[in-house]
Amino acid sequence: MKPINVGILGLGTVGGGTAKVLKKNAAEIERRTGRQIRQFMAADKRSDLDTHDMFLPETTLTDDAFAVVSHPEIDIVVELIGGTGIAKELILKAIENGKHVVTANKKLLAECGNEIFAAAEEKNVTVMFEAAVAGGIPIIKTLREGLAANRIQWIAGIINGTSNFILSEMREKGSSFAEVLAEAQRLGYAEADPTFDIEGHDAGHKITIMASLAFGIPLNFSKCYLEGISKLDAKDIKYAEELGYRLKLLGITRRTESGIELRVHPTLIPEKRLLASVNGVMNAVWVHADMVGSTLHYGAGAGELATASAVVADIVDLSRMITSDNADRVPHLAFQPSKVCDTPVLPMDEVKSGYYLRIQAADQSGVLADIANILAKEKISIEALTQKGVIQSEQTAEIVILTHTTQEKHIKAAIAAIEQLPNIHAPVVMIRMESFHINN
Ligand code: HSE
Repeated sequence: MKPINVGILGLGTVGGGTAKVLKKNAAEIERRTGRQIRQFMAADKRSDLDTHDMFLPETTLTDDAFAVVSHPEIDIVVELIGGTGIAKELILKAIENGKHVVTANKKLLAECGNEIFAAAEEKNVTVMFEAAVAGGIPIIKTLREGLAANRIQWIAGIINGTSNFILSEMREKGSSFAEVLAEAQRLGYAEADPTFDIEGHDAGHKITIMASLAFGIPLNFSKCYLEGISKLDAKDIKYAEELGYRLKLLGITRRTESGIELRVHPTLIPEKRLLASVNGVMNAVWVHADMVGSTLHYGAGAGELATASAVVADIVDLSRMITSDNADRVPHLAFQPSKVCDTPVLPMDEVKSGYYLRIQAADQSGVLADIANILAKEKISIEALTQKGVIQSEQTAEIVILTHTTQEKHIKAAIAAIEQLPNIHAPVVMIRMESFHINN
C-alpha cells in the first residue's frame, strides 16, 4: 500500500517526541497499519536541531510551516506549535488544502473547535486530538468509541499535572502554595509563568473538550467556571484530611435535568475514592456512564513520549480511515454533527455541591448558634462540624463545617450573611466537596 506522508509542524517537546516515536517504532507501527507512516517533512524555526533520533534520510526540514501544509505529497499535518495564533491559521490552511490534521492543541480546540470541525466536515477531512487531553491517557478514544453504547452521566478528572504536583506536595510537607510552586519551577514541572496551569485554564480546556464528547454539545469554553489553586492554604488541606477528605483540582462536567455543569475548581473528595490517591504529576479521568458504570483512566498527563504516543495513535487511526468518506468516520465530537445539541451550560449559582467552610469567629457563646441559624435559613444541612482550635491572643476560634449538597447560590448567600455577623473576624474560606455517589 502507498505510504502515508506526514508533515510535523513544531519540533518542540511533543513534536520532537512524535518524530522519535515514528522513527523508533516504525516497524511495529507498520505491522499494525499495513502501510508505512513516513515522515516526509517537518517545520521548525531552529536550523541547528539535532534530528538524528527523529528523521529518516528522506525527511525534509524547513522553517516554513506553510510549505508543509501546502505540499501536495503530504496526507496528514501534525500541528504541535500550540496556541490560537499561527497554529489556527496553519490548521485551517491544511484543511482547505484537503489534509487531515492531528493536533495536541487543547486551547485552540476548546476556544475555536466549533469553527475548525465545521471547516473539516466541509472539506471531508478529519481533525484528531487524542493528545489534547490528559497526554498519554487514551481518553478521547474512550469517550468517542469505547463508551459509545452509553449515556454518559458525569466526568471528573485530575487533568493538570502541575497543580496536582503542587497539591500533593502541600499535603505531604505541609508547605505553603508559594513554597511548593517555587520548588515545582526549580524542578521544571511548572512554567516560569504558571498562570495557565495553576488558575485552571489548562484543565478548563480539557474538561470543555471532554464535555462535548460526552454529551454531544458544542465546545463551550467561555461558559466553563474556572477557579485555580493559588489561594489555597495548607491549613485547609490538613483540616479536610482530618475529616477524611483530600483536596484535588478537578475538572467536572455533569449532565443534570436543567443543563450541563462545566467547572474547574479545588475540590474535596473522600480519601477512599481512587481519585484521591492520584498524586504528583499524574492524571486520572473518572467517567460514569449508565451501562458500564464507573471507569477510571490513569496515566501520564504530559511528557515527551507519553504525549507523542497519543499523537502517533491518531496518525495510525487516520492511516486506516483515510480512504473512507467523512460520513463513515467517527464524528469529531462523537455524535453526528446534525445531532449535536446546544444543551445549556449551567451558571455556577445553579450548580449543586457539598461545601467545606472555615470560619474564624470570636470564641464566645452564641456565635455558633448564629451561624447555624443562617445555614438553616438557607436550608443548608450540616454534615459535620468541628472547632479546630482557639488562637488565645486573639480570642478567636476556627470552626470547620461540612455541608450536605446544596445549590451554590444558597451557600453564597449564607457566606455573605455569616461575614456580616459582628463576631466573624475574617472572610469565610469555602471549598467545594464532591462525594461522587454513583447514583449522582
Ligand atoms: N501543563 C499541563 C499539566 C500539561 O501540567 O498537566 C499539558 O497539558
